[in-house]
Amino acid sequence: MQHTRIHKKWALVTGALGGIGQALVKEFADEGYHVIATDIKVSNDKIDNVYFLQLDLEKFVVNELYATEFYQKVKEITNGTGISSLVNNAAIQILADTSSLTREQWNTSFNVNLSAPFFMSQLFLDDLTTNIGSIVNISSIHATQTKKEFVAYATTKAALSSMTRNMVLDIGSKIRINAIEPAAIATEMLKAGFDGKEEQYKKLEMFHPLGRVGTPTEVAKLAVFLSSESAGFVQGACISASGGIQGCLSDPS
Ligand SMILES: NC(=O)c1ccc[n+]([C@@H]2O[C@H](COP(=O)([O-])OP(=O)(O)OC[C@H]3O[C@@H](n4cnc5c(N)ncnc54)[C@H](O)[C@@H]3O)[C@@H](O)[C@H]2O)c1
Repeated sequence: MQHTRIHKKWALVTGALGGIGQALVKEFADEGYHVIATDIKVSNDKIDNVYFLQLDLEKFVVNELYATEFYQKVKEITNGTGISSLVNNAAIQILADTSSLTREQWNTSFNVNLSAPFFMSQLFLDDLTTNIGSIVNISSIHATQTKKEFVAYATTKAALSSMTRNMVLDIGSKIRINAIEPAAIATEMLKAGFDGKEEQYKKLEMFHPLGRVGTPTEVAKLAVFLSSESAGFVQGACISASGGIQGCLSDPS
């Protein structure tokens, strides 16, 4: 009789306490993954099959020892198996005009939004290869279409989408790497920003051909799909999840 080894599949999510991060943790856990949920913030929440680890991505980028220690912790938690899915989700959105953006704001944006996904992917490359794994980068519609004062954020997201397309040339068939480019997603933060401005929120919704903004769960389910064998031929893709808004011109007409 042949014995099949039951393998726990581990997913690692960054920015796990944010609006989309929480949905990612839930959807991966519901799909049967064990999840390592990381964030700069601390959480004392207890969720079945979810292991919380505090991680400052900026420190992770600039301090190699901190990154190595993080890797060792992940290896311990997974009993040496390593992860089979990495979701680079954390980001910061610093809004400032080109004339006033500081070096610190620019560098922090790049460290968290771009360099962290790069070095996180590099760190887990061997484990993801062994586990026939996948990486999903949460990019943004700002990778291609943007607004005033978004120069730092939008540039990091354009680079993250580009990194997704470029990295697969080095990785080849070892692991799959894809990105999601969401438009407005109804996180608590987005909704809070429109508190008392219901008219404006309605306008935002109606500007999308689908007549609404997206939900964190929709982004998370897409990430789970991209990590699954069902997406086996999807490689280096940057998939828009924008309710159709990416096709809209905003000229006055
Ligand atoms: N919400 C939207 O409308 C929207 C649209 C397009 C793309 N996105 C992208 O989706 C992802 C998640 O966005 P969100 O709306 O959930 O944002 P969010 O601000 O709610 O969550 C981001 C999380 O990242 C964490 N984080 C920030 N800096 C960190 C650091 N240095 N180290 C570790 N963790 C850090 C924060 O603590 C937070 O929990 C981001 O990549 C964002 O760019 C969001």
